Amino acid sequence: MRKRPIVSVAAGALALLLSVPASAAQGGPGAAGIGDPYYPNAGNGGYDVSHYDIRLKYQPATDELAGTTTILATAAQDLTRFNLDFVLEVKEVLVNGRTAKFAGTGEHELEITPARVITKGSPITVVVRYADRPGEVERGGQSAWLRTPDGGVAANEPESAAWWYPSNDHPTDKATFDVSVLVPDGTQVISNGTSTQSSRAGWTRYNYRQTKPQATYLATLAIGRFDIRADTTPGGLPVITAYSKDLGDNAGAAQASVERTGELVDWLSGYFGAYPFGTVGGYVPNVPTGYALETQGQIFYSPAQFSRGSNTSVVVHELAHQWYGDSVSVQRWSDIWLNEGFARYSQWLWSEHENEGTTQELADYVYNLYPADHEFWTIKPGDPGADHQFAGAVYDRGAVAVQALRNAVGDEKFFRILQGWPTERKYGNATIQDFQAYAERISGKPLGELLNTWLFTAAKPAVGSAGAAAPSLAKSGPALSGATADVAPEPRSWKKIQETNTVHEHRS
Ligand code: TRP
Ligand code: ZN
Repeated sequence: MRKRPIVSVAAGALALLLSVPASAAQGGPGAAGIGDPYYPNAGNGGYDVSHYDIRLKYQPATDELAGTTTILATAAQDLTRFNLDFVLEVKEVLVNGRTAKFAGTGEHELEITPARVITKGSPITVVVRYADRPGEVERGGQSAWLRTPDGGVAANEPESAAWWYPSNDHPTDKATFDVSVLVPDGTQVISNGTSTQSSRAGWTRYNYRQTKPQATYLATLAIGRFDIRADTTPGGLPVITAYSKDLGDNAGAAQASVERTGELVDWLSGYFGAYPFGTVGGYVPNVPTGYALETQGQIFYSPAQFSRGSNTSVVVHELAHQWYGDSVSVQRWSDIWLNEGFARYSQWLWSEHENEGTTQELADYVYNLYPADHEFWTIKPGDPGADHQFAGAVYDRGAVAVQALRNAVGDEKFFRILQGWPTERKYGNATIQDFQAYAERISGKPLGELLNTWLFTAAKPAVGSAGAAAPSLAKSGPALSGATADVAPEPRSWKKIQETNTVHEHRS
């Protein structure tokens, strides 16, 4: 479902490096990457996927995952060969019904040579048959498969798909999904969308269906012993929540947070407009990690996030991503501010709603927390680099940038932008430059200098700098209070908000 090619706005040298050889445009192998400067091998060139049909069997005792994925795609060029992204062991590949040659290359490339050349514009059906133990497969010392005592979970960003299904693994090629997994009775399966199940001879098959366009890393799979609950919001939206049976002391706090999903999605709809997907929910598997992931319509949470009591703030963050990240997705991974800056800002709005600190107080606090020589200000939220994609500054400085935008355009225009953007770009992809153009159109103000200051400069913006023009404290841009750390008290919500992403602090 890729709508347009990635346009490199980076240096000419990079554009040259990324440009497809002239022969490939005519016919030849599809590129091994889709052209994302941060991750040159992510995704693939030469075709667009419309649907994944993932049909698996899983044995929790041994971690054996086996089955087939059927991919429906369309050739974007004449193809002698093309790649999928996959790390598990492949047994067989069929392309349009004929046995195809395949080879694993690089970190996660599955190179497929069909028996016949595929002509541009024609449909491709790829069947990949595979069997492996995903918990044992590492790439670059990392695995996206979290093995649990009762099963396993695929969760990672930007790449998790390759540990359970072959794909064109980049947010610009969205598709619909059917996920069907057979497990022993007593074990449950969680994935995205609506579900049905059937039992026979000691085994249960879970079928999930996502009918809205979904990016590959937002497809989720969790297998284990879960308590699953189904409900609907007052507005009629189905809510599915699930908790590992082994959450121990965290069970109550986890439920007291995630059970508020329906209420919080309605609250966020007031800011962002109608919820974009057919189901909403969240699950808490028995994993040792400390982060959440905005998997589409079915959010992944870690028990550790509820180990200091309930945390509605993290639920707000992940739900905000359903609009900012999932429905409207990054065009390139360098556009990550469009996800994390707005998801963090939503937590600030929730803080204000709960009387635990206003958005302005939080912005002032972040501004004053880090002195000008702190490495925090060396991260550019608008282009943090692959190594710092999820650094704390992408979130916190990113949310300060949102507050600066608000102060520059005024509340009326700001809230029109906040709600209009996810509607304008629903189910699509966008760059920060696209967002800037939209915000300029709605506000009638040039915003280049403001965004350059807050997103694209590796230094602490000075008080009174761009975007901080008005004199009053409340409306003056986050940098304007001139307050020092000892006069800007820590907002009551601060520590809870930081618990959203404990893991990222270690990464930056
Ligand atoms: N997008 C996630 C969030 O902010 C955070 C995240 C980044 C993540 N990298 C990850 C989660 C890797 C799990 C694994 O909510
Ligand atoms: Zn996030």
